[in-house]
Amino acid sequence: MKVRASAPTKVTLFGEHAVVYGFPALVMAIQKRVEVTASKTSDGVVRIELPELSSIGLKLEIRNGEVEIKKVQNALKHASYVVETIKELQKRANQSCGAKIMVKSKLPAGVGLGTSAAVIEAVGLAYSTLLGITMDKKEIAQLAKHVETLVQGKSSGMDASIISQGGIGLFRLENETPVLQRLEAKEIPIVIAYIKKVIPTGEAVARVKAIFEKHKDITETIFEAICAITEKATRKILENDLNSLGELMNLNHGLLCSLGVSNLRLEQLIHLARDAGALGSKITGAGFGGSIVCLLKNEESAKNVCQVLKPFCDGVFLAKRDNIGAQVQIIGS
Ligand code: PMV
Repeated sequence: MKVRASAPTKVTLFGEHAVVYGFPALVMAIQKRVEVTASKTSDGVVRIELPELSSIGLKLEIRNGEVEIKKVQNALKHASYVVETIKELQKRANQSCGAKIMVKSKLPAGVGLGTSAAVIEAVGLAYSTLLGITMDKKEIAQLAKHVETLVQGKSSGMDASIISQGGIGLFRLENETPVLQRLEAKEIPIVIAYIKKVIPTGEAVARVKAIFEKHKDITETIFEAICAITEKATRKILENDLNSLGELMNLNHGLLCSLGVSNLRLEQLIHLARDAGALGSKITGAGFGGSIVCLLKNEESAKNVCQVLKPFCDGVFLAKRDNIGAQVQIIGS
């Protein structure tokens, strides 16, 4: 059996960091997909290749639950996400099968655009299909949250939810349970630029927590203001009021800066974008490097901002919304 699976990546438009404390975040799936092809093999070994997700490419083999890594230098956490996904599915199904799995990504890992959850969901759908298990969107999102928690310690499940469903939605943790309310909104012109992260997400969240614990009264007010911005942005996106949305992005960015998650290179990108005509721009994701998101009035203005940002970042693109989410199909017997 041969299968093809894929999952979109995502951008957080409003509310990151505050979402960890139970406040809402506005999040959108984007059409930069992680693509996986997988075929069953008869020797019981799971062979995995991730040519684009580390700077030199990576090859792994899982034999009787033991992982053998063929090329490790500079290997990113993505190997662990894949390995834990396969092991978790083998455990749940109480069976295993040999497979050759190829993972390709349109985006680099670790820039705050959800490649981890996308890798887990695409690999999870592909391998579960080879095992003869059908997983619906809710189940694949739960698997992704679980594997993210195993690998990185904690996960709100935000990426997992939007990546499985696609589209745009308001995400919130309700009593620690991820709830995604999808929205019917028009497509908005968005540009995303990324650079390397200086510290991983877990550490960024820990640094914000340290500030929160030291200055609880003030930080709570900041999170409440971010929440008010996110809720207003949700209304404005439904009204397609781009000017207000841009202003709200700038306000959200200011509050993220106050939490200490910006840095010089991110500020350079933010201000270059605004000077080049962006209606608003902000950090997206955990900060300390990673990505920024800019709102433009139209596609022409978006292309211009891409040109301006290009020399100052590792990648920049006009982001299109993905409305499909994670999916799998059988392509051969
Ligand atoms: O890992 P990133 O950069 O996509 O962003 C994490 C977003 C946070 O709100 C900071 C953490 C979380 O779990 O939601």
